[in-house]
Amino acid sequence: MTVRLTTLCDNLAGSVGYVAEWGLSILVQYKDEAVLLDTGGTDSVIRNAIQNGINLNQITRIVLSHGHKDHTGGLRHLLQILDAKRQVILHPEAWASKYASRAEPVGSEMHYIGIPYSKEELEHLGAKFTLSREPVWITDEIVVTGEVPLQTSFESIDKNLFVKIEGEYQMDTVPDDQALVVKTSKGLVVILGCAHHGMINTLQHAQKITGEERVHAVVGGTHLFRAGPDQLEQTIAALEEFNVAHIGVSHCTGMPASMALMQHFKDRFFFNHVGKVMEF
Ligand SMILES: [Fe+2]
Ligand SMILES: [Fe+2]
Repeated sequence: MTVRLTTLCDNLAGSVGYVAEWGLSILVQYKDEAVLLDTGGTDSVIRNAIQNGINLNQITRIVLSHGHKDHTGGLRHLLQILDAKRQVILHPEAWASKYASRAEPVGSEMHYIGIPYSKEELEHLGAKFTLSREPVWITDEIVVTGEVPLQTSFESIDKNLFVKIEGEYQMDTVPDDQALVVKTSKGLVVILGCAHHGMINTLQHAQKITGEERVHAVVGGTHLFRAGPDQLEQTIAALEEFNVAHIGVSHCTGMPASMALMQHFKDRFFFNHVGKVMEF
């Protein structure tokens, strides 16, 4: 039985007819489940599903990797076209009032980047929210990781991210950051949203909660676009140690890190852009 991944939103379009936007959404099909990890920022998931011939009503549930709007802004659009209510799994802190600093010095210019809708509005449109800090097992083989512990020495949280609490900006430790994991006969297939807590931390956590050591594939946003040479080098070394067979990067990986991974992993590497369909 293979896991089928279809990328429905990414910063880049992989072929003709697809639309790109800054964000991420990947449809994960395995056995009877069709789980949508993230929803992109606007309506690109709907447009790209039409292009791909995918009926979005087959989605069994939606998982949100964290509360940033480039991963959650498409939810309202999606709920408006689905034929019935859907479970939406997320961490409670995804609802925090999230900001990004986009100017120097850090903190001088703040932009709101949190979920752009109220919980009530989305519930009215058919979302049935499951809030959890802990892993949520969808089936015996598909799990949402819950909070990812920070363990490696070389991964850290982006210092440009903030939450506003009682009018004050505080560093956002992005506790809501999580990934989706499928346990297959070949090992784990790990689908990342942004990996704000680090790709390697996420893989280690996936191993721990599933009890499966083998990591077969890792796909999605890696947040390596701010990584320096040291982090990149150590990430590559760790991926080698995991002996990952497929590495597909999207979204916040950025070109320099993508190039480094491509040069190192060669045919084990692929660009995971809109329209890409992979089976593992
Ligand atoms: Fe993010
Ligand atoms: Fe993102």
